[in-house]
Amino acid sequence: TPETKPLVAGNWKMNGLRSSLDTLKTIASGAAALVGKTDMLICPPATLLREATSLCSRTALRIGAQDCHSLPSGAHTGEISAAMVADCGATFVIVGHSERRDFQSETDAIVRSKAAAAHAARLVAIVCIGETGAERQSGETLNVLKRQLAHSVPDGATATNTVIAYEPVWAIGTGLTPTTDDIREAHAFMRADLVSRFPGNGTNMRILYGGSVKASNAAELMAIVNVDGALVGGASLKADDFLAIAGIY
Ligand code: G3P
Repeated sequence: TPETKPLVAGNWKMNGLRSSLDTLKTIASGAAALVGKTDMLICPPATLLREATSLCSRTALRIGAQDCHSLPSGAHTGEISAAMVADCGATFVIVGHSERRDFQSETDAIVRSKAAAAHAARLVAIVCIGETGAERQSGETLNVLKRQLAHSVPDGATATNTVIAYEPVWAIGTGLTPTTDDIREAHAFMRADLVSRFPGNGTNMRILYGGSVKASNAAELMAIVNVDGALVGGASLKADDFLAIAGIY
């Protein structure tokens, strides 16, 4: 089943014009070599979703959105529903990225409703959680993860429709990463939490690590127990870097 394979996902954030579709083509070609080994996903900006899914339709590269609204339709100017994402041919959507929790004030409750909307549209929800630097300093990391898992992940989550992405906020775009021991501890904690809440699904629900993943540290990070792949920001913008990371498995 797909969820037992690692997932290497790229989040392009607010980067990418139509001229970037060449990068996507290169990644899609490279993905062929990893079929059956590693699932590969790129989440381009919404403006490129439709062209991206057309370009990648006959390739192993999957395409996802970076966000969706919690409601199916209506008076929400500028928003994009999960059904619209699915209608573009995308199969994944990131919800609750720390940049949205921060700049758009998204709460755990909002993130949970977005993930549920994604499920209703038959999308795989990548639910992002992670502690801030201050929370790490004050020894609150595991409490934060417990709270975010409890309130951001909807009851309908399964190993097939949900991926957890652990992204320590202080590690995003900074070149800093937790120690391998700290990542092992966090992922073991999240695994135990998921297994107890979702018997039968928690064992196989993929838990990605994100935050300053690059080709030079990917092997070490991806080898940690309970790290089932990566959510990559900056290094997903260059085909060579992203393919090097995905090729680690
Ligand atoms: O969603 C991925 C992202 O937040 C990590 O960004 O640039 O540190 O890989 P980066």
